[in-house]
Amino acid sequence: MIPSLTLTSGNYVQMMSASDQGRFQSGARVAAAEDANAAESHRIKAEVESLNFFYGNVQALKNINMAFPAHQVTAIIGPSGCGKSTLLRCFNRIHDLYPETRYEGRITLFPSGINVIGPEADPIEMRMRMGMVFQKPNAFPKSVFENAAFGLRLRGVRGKDLEEQVERSLRSAALWDEVKDRLRESAYTLSGGQQQRLCIARALASEPEMLLFDEPTSALDPIATAKIEELIFSLKREVTVIIVTHNMQQAARVSNFSAFMYLGELIEISPTEKMFENPSSKLTEEYITGHFG
Ligand SMILES: Nc1ncnc2c1ncn2[C@@H]1O[C@H](COP(=O)(O)OP(=O)(O)OP(=O)(O)O)[C@@H](O)[C@H]1O
Ligand SMILES: [Mg+2]
Repeated sequence: MIPSLTLTSGNYVQMMSASDQGRFQSGARVAAAEDANAAESHRIKAEVESLNFFYGNVQALKNINMAFPAHQVTAIIGPSGCGKSTLLRCFNRIHDLYPETRYEGRITLFPSGINVIGPEADPIEMRMRMGMVFQKPNAFPKSVFENAAFGLRLRGVRGKDLEEQVERSLRSAALWDEVKDRLRESAYTLSGGQQQRLCIARALASEPEMLLFDEPTSALDPIATAKIEELIFSLKREVTVIIVTHNMQQAARVSNFSAFMYLGELIEISPTEKMFENPSSKLTEEYITGHFG
């Protein structure tokens, strides 16, 4: 466990930006009045402890210990092949679809306390609870509506409820105004940036606890990228976000915390401002100043 991320109320607040601190502190007072224990347990959404991950004989993650604060955006940065996507994919158990993969350690989700990678967790349920958005938009060959409705239909939502929930998720993904008159058209008639927001809407419709983004804008132009970044920033009201990115400016713009990985290890996790202005590790400094990677 990383001591600075063993969140007592004091050090947690110190790690936030000034604007978030204000919001957090007023929110925390209300929560504390209601239930001090519940407030305490809500501050971390997920805690990774002694996580090792193997593809056959290749160890891709080495003793990772870190916590993901609730309703915050944590960016994961690091050179190609350092294990960023591997770490993200542990959260939704997608590795289980491939043979000879092996997890060791724990990823605890709060407030339930379930170990995401433990035998008690159902990988299919974990995939519902952890929405994932990939580098390339992976809209299904269906209409805009049916893409957003996909997870809801699987859960048996029908009729008016379905329409309302589709609209809500398209609004949350900042796409509704652009597609409300095109719901029956193929998703493939949308632009790349719109398709990516449709994938975010599809993930949101399942009411996930966390959203995992793996380089979500690397195939998009700057305007579409700006829209997705704005969206990610606002989504933290609803969910806890992890974003893998190669773009340092993006990490600086959208995240509250940044984690630097190197050769399968976590080198540093810090509030984003600190990471970019005064990193704790020499390796981090060398990476963000472009000396390698
Ligand atoms: N299916 C696989 N089988 C064996 N090794 C793999 C597999 N997928 C990834 N690896 C290895 O695991 C390590 C971490 O890969 P990962 O894809 O997590 O890196 P990454 O940090 O996401 O890189 P990038 O920035 O290029 O996306 C690499 O050494 C990679 O070669
Ligand atoms: Mg990757």
